[in-house]
Amino acid sequence: MTYSAEDRSSTTEPDRLFRVRIHNRQKGTVHEVQVPGDRYILHCSENQGVTLPFSCRNGACTACAVRVLDGQLAQPEAMGLSPGLRDRGYALLCVSYAQSDLVVETQDEDEVYELQFGRYFGKGKVRRGLPLDED
Ligand code: FES
Repeated sequence: MTYSAEDRSSTTEPDRLFRVRIHNRQKGTVHEVQVPGDRYILHCSENQGVTLPFSCRNGACTACAVRVLDGQLAQPEAMGLSPGLRDRGYALLCVSYAQSDLVVETQDEDEVYELQFGRYFGKGKVRRGLPLDED
């Protein structure tokens, strides 16, 4: 699935500034950052001195996954997250735009990876396109 610049502009609010509260479960810390509606949350957090888990920075690896506890965000480029996990409230901060004030918490280690791929391990041949296309 690809997204054009028009898609992005329909999901972002460049003139708005949102407050994002981030519970880093691994470190036991809570941070609050201010994020413009047209900037990635992970990048803005780092610019404000908040270090969070990441790897690819491209919406593919799920290292930056969080659970959204409150608020709305857009993640049209989150190709590494299945629609089912998005519906369950997971998001990839490296490619997420705030659409309201937010409260999020970092995932347990490999939580999203296990939810998404773990059930396919040890079950024989994996069909092409799974698991990201099945939902
Ligand atoms: S850092 Fe890889 S998906 Fe966000």
